[in-house]
Amino acid sequence: MLSEEKNRLLTEVGPGKPMGEYLRRYWHPVAGADEFDKKSVRAIRLFGEDLVLFKDLSGNFGLIERRCPHRNADLVHGYVEKEGLRCSYHGWQFGQSGQCLHQPFEEVMDPSARMRQGTKIKGYPVKEKAGMLWAYMGPLPAPELPDWDFLNFKNGFAQAIFSELPCNWFQCQENSIDPVHFEWTHNNWMVRQQDPNGSNVPTHLQLQFEEFEYGLTYKRLRGGDTEDNIMWTVGRVCLWPNAFYLGHHCEWRVPIDDENTLSVMWMFGRVPKEMEPYEQKKIPSWVGPLKDENGEWIISHVINQDFAAWYGQGRITDRTKEKLGQSDKGVVMMRRKFFEELDAMAEGKQQLFAQIWDPAQNEDVFLPSACREEMIHGMPREQQNVHHLLGPYLNDCFGQYGQPDRVREEYEKAVGQKMKMASTFVNAVHGAHKEETTSK
Ligand code: FES
Ligand SMILES: [Fe+2]
Repeated sequence: MLSEEKNRLLTEVGPGKPMGEYLRRYWHPVAGADEFDKKSVRAIRLFGEDLVLFKDLSGNFGLIERRCPHRNADLVHGYVEKEGLRCSYHGWQFGQSGQCLHQPFEEVMDPSARMRQGTKIKGYPVKEKAGMLWAYMGPLPAPELPDWDFLNFKNGFAQAIFSELPCNWFQCQENSIDPVHFEWTHNNWMVRQQDPNGSNVPTHLQLQFEEFEYGLTYKRLRGGDTEDNIMWTVGRVCLWPNAFYLGHHCEWRVPIDDENTLSVMWMFGRVPKEMEPYEQKKIPSWVGPLKDENGEWIISHVINQDFAAWYGQGRITDRTKEKLGQSDKGVVMMRRKFFEELDAMAEGKQQLFAQIWDPAQNEDVFLPSACREEMIHGMPREQQNVHHLLGPYLNDCFGQYGQPDRVREEYEKAVGQKMKMASTFVNAVHGAHKEETTSK
């Protein structure tokens, strides 16, 4: 249970709010780079700010305020130039930093362009990496955009999936340090969706939470597991400050504003040995819907089940009314770490938890994962098809609902087999099999 004040500290992300200022000091994936193959400008709302994201004629990305400072026209209707974006109302032009670069009529009247030099709107750095556009909205200089090792894995097919959720970011992120939900939200709920009398999977018996350089980890032992189980020896990573890394995919929860969150899922499907070498030409991105054609919330796929849990807690969940237990030790640990970090920021500390400042340290940054070796070295198809973590990915896109046919077809070509197009995935999710032991 938290006080109302502490709940606000965790959840308010607008400009000037402590958590908003804190999270702005990290890079966040905000869009698919391939979105800009067909268009040059799009609106985006992040941390309570209305912005436009654009790709100019030189191929550079920019993220600037959405309203033109002249007479408030919407820059989403602007057109890109060699450098930056021009307002389509009276032609004022803005560069990536938000600096005004051209005020056509004003500069005819005053060739020294004093007014233009004094005109600047907000502009935030954007970088492209792993098929996604990453934004940094904090004070400059910015720390390094982390070069996580999994973003550099070879011989695989990556895809980036975006969805806007009607709830606060922190309840999504609490899920990254919540192992027990796997059993109930994924395994057992999938079983019950198919058969109301279906039996439950083995329950959790032990949990362990630890802090490491780039976040927290959780480890689990379930009924029937032995202590050499990869989920106990390695576990999973709650990646600081707002991500969850599971070896074959990573999820980020990026605040849109206090009541909405951009879910970003980056999946990497390792191709079987027989398909090597495989080089992906372009990483596709797509938008995952939350509701089906009947207006019902989708609950068939893994992250859609998570979404249901998160938005089900309310727009901004009321943490003055909760009853935490032993299963929530990781949640408590994470909240405490955020409070410590907010204090550190208030004291003016530049090095915040898990930030990388030294470029020499930012190469292929190691993150533990339960299937790291398999992702790097690959395995023959026959072996991969029955692998307890990677096998299901060869057979279906069960992580999130709504994969477009064009992406599925490219993926099928890459891995060399057809998807089964199942509608339920009872056996796909980690923990569904009693016989599961180690990764090798
Ligand atoms: S409103 Fe943008 S240039 Fe006038
Ligand atoms: Fe989940």
